[in-house]
This record gives sequence, C-alpha cells and structure tokens, in this order.
Amino acid sequence: MSTASPAPDAVPPVFNAAATTAAFDALTPEVMRRRGSLKWTMYPGDVIGAWVAEMDLGTAPSVTAVLQRAVTDGSYGYLPPQVAESVREETARIQGEAFGWRVDAQDVSLLPDVLSALGAVIAHHTRPGSAVIVPTPAYMPFLSYPGLYGRECVQVPSLRTAAADAAAGTTWALDLDGIEAAMAAGAGLLVLCNPWNPVGRVLSPAELDAVAALSARYRVPVFADEIHNSLILDPQAVHVPYASRPGTDPDLTFTATAASKGWNTPGLKCAQLIASAGARRAWNDSPLSKHLANEASLLGAQATVAALRDGQEWNACARGYIRDNGRLVAETLAEVDGLELTVPSGTYLAWLDCSGLELPDGVTPADYFRREPGVVMNDGAAFGAGYESFCRLNLATGRGIMRQALQRLVDAVARLRS
Ligand SMILES: Cc1ncc(COP(=O)(O)O)c(C=O)c1O
Repeated sequence: MSTASPAPDAVPPVFNAAATTAAFDALTPEVMRRRGSLKWTMYPGDVIGAWVAEMDLGTAPSVTAVLQRAVTDGSYGYLPPQVAESVREETARIQGEAFGWRVDAQDVSLLPDVLSALGAVIAHHTRPGSAVIVPTPAYMPFLSYPGLYGRECVQVPSLRTAAADAAAGTTWALDLDGIEAAMAAGAGLLVLCNPWNPVGRVLSPAELDAVAALSARYRVPVFADEIHNSLILDPQAVHVPYASRPGTDPDLTFTATAASKGWNTPGLKCAQLIASAGARRAWNDSPLSKHLANEASLLGAQATVAALRDGQEWNACARGYIRDNGRLVAETLAEVDGLELTVPSGTYLAWLDCSGLELPDGVTPADYFRREPGVVMNDGAAFGAGYESFCRLNLATGRGIMRQALQRLVDAVARLRS
C-alpha cells in the first residue's frame, strides 16, 4: 500500500474526453507561443514548432491539480522519502498492470531524467573504456553521451524493411548482425530504445529475445530506454518491457522510464531506473545513484504519481488524438512525391524520408522546411550518420496546427517543382 499521496486531501478532478479534445482542437500557434515552451520559442517568427519531443496537449487534469496545489501551498522543497516511495510503488504497479512485468518497488530508483541514468550506467556499470553500441537512427543524445564519458559510440545503422501493413510504407528493424559484431569487437553496453524514437517502432518479443541472447552470449549489459512506453498508438501494438523477457539476465539489464513523455512533464525532472539482482546491488552501491535520487524534483515526483495513478484516461485520449494526427499526416503526404513517412506505432514522432526532393546544394530538408514555409522539424543528421535526408516530425499538437503544418509542407514541396 502507498504510504503517501501527492496531495492527500485533493480529489482527482474528473476527466472529460469531449472537453479535452475540444481544448486540443482549439490550440493555435499564437496560444503555443504565449505558453512559451522550447518547441515554440527557439525559432522566432511565424514558424510552427514540430521538433523537440514536447507535446502541445498540456497534461492530465490530475497532474495539473497536484501542481496547482503545490503552487498554492508554496511547496517547492526537496523530495521527501514518502513521496519517492509512492513513485516507486506506482512505477512497479503500472509495469505489472499495463505491461505484465512484475517489478519489485524496491528495484525502482529515482533520478532527474533518463540521460543521467544512461550516464551513470556508462560510468559505473560497463567495462572501463569500453564502447557503447547505439542502433541508429537514434535519439540524438545517445550518440553524444558516450563521448562525455570518454567512450566511443558505435553506431549500428538499422535495416529498412517494408511494413507489414503496406499503407504504413517502410519500417525499421534492428541490425542484429551489426549489433553482434560490435559486441564481439568488445563493446561494453547496448542502448535499446523501445518504443523507438525516432522511427516509432514498438519492438517485438522476438527482437527483444534476440537482443537478450546476444547480451547473454557476450556479457554485454543493455540499457533499455522505455520512456515512450505510455505512448503506444497502434491498437495492434503491445509494449513488452525488455526486462520482462525470460531470456534477459537481470545482472545485465537496466530499464529507464518516466512519465515525462506520456504526460508531458519533462521540465519537472523525475525519471525512474529499474534494476534487479546484481544490477540493482551495483546501482545501489554506486555513490552516484544516491546523489541522482536527490536530484529528482518533488514536483516531478508528485506529477509522476498523479499521472500514473489518475491520469490514464487523459493519456488514452491524447494517444487517440495523436494517432488520428498520424493518419491525417500519412494520408496527406502519401499524395506528395518525394516524401515518405514512417507511420509510428508508438511515440508521437514521425520519421520522414525526404530523399526524393530536389533541394538546392548544401540545404538539408530540415533547413529548407524551416526557412521556406516555417515548419521546424529535427534534422535527420542529428540521429546518426547517413540520415541527412530525413526529418523528424512531432505529431503531438492540435488538429488545426497539424493541418497548417501539413499545408505548409505540401506547398513548399510544390514550390520546389514550379
Ligand atoms: C528516447 C528518449 N529518451 C530520453 C529522453 C529524455 O527524456 P527526459 O529528459 O524526460 O528524461 C527522451 C526525450 O525526448 C527520449 O525521446
């Protein structure tokens, strides 16, 4: 049983799907700029922010309520142990109930964010000096983090294949042979992102099992970043935690997660690392783990509990809305020569191949779309070598904004041809 609640006397506000959807529909670029998030303020002028992984959709009423309460109370102190315990319990509960993975709450550690977990695992839980394997395309910091710890990053380009559903275009699969070759060459860690930013894949149990077999054969730990696990869009897709597979070795497995993507609270700084057996003992023994636990914020911890405990209906509503945005984008861009979209099954990020466009020399697709029609997407080059002709498009916005962004993209491609 939980020993603490985020705000003991607060009644979770009632979620209303119609009002929530209407609020999403009412979003405009002006509203978003006024809110002042990074996505909408980094680039000045009449631009649509569709890059960094923030949602425009706000957050669950339960999260808003707990934060409003903290503001009213002026409650901005350090994180008390009871609230940290509530995060551990809710994290373990949700893994069991949503994903069928039995987690002991004591195997959950708190941290400010997932990347600090990755840094600590590289620094303290891999062979000194060993390289870090990152399947690409990859969430950008995975490529630079190993270097911060004096490690080489071995990029393993993934395989592009036809999607099972022809309408979904192409999809991406891990290059297991490439990963094995890197392990055989002495790498000390594999970073596994599932659901996979930026290609939106939800990895299958068979792929996870193949990774587990390689990890066991070469004794290479796996850092499973599952931060997008609450963002499964495709009703046919099922998120399976890597660590829940029977072939994984708990001594070699670290799982990172957070409510920060599914409930849009990355600025509140609270993530979770799940490690059991030898991995947990090693983690708990490292002085860095205690230091990091103290860096998780009280507001972030309260928001996490409110999200996981009372924010599921809002999350489901947001996912349905993002899924419909994805369909709209896929249908619209299917008519545009030169662009090919990978429709995400999970995450709110779409991976757009622009290699069919004829752009002026030296101009990347992301540059072109930012300058010409004013749609800011992430530049594919940041996701690994060889992805210069790709962009990452953020689907987590209001339908009106999504339509405006699409119209701008369609018109800008037409202008290239005129
Ligand atoms: C795959 C992945 N991991 C980690 C993060 C970092 O999230 P946070 O700062 O909330 O830990 C992100 C953010 O977009 C992400 O997409």
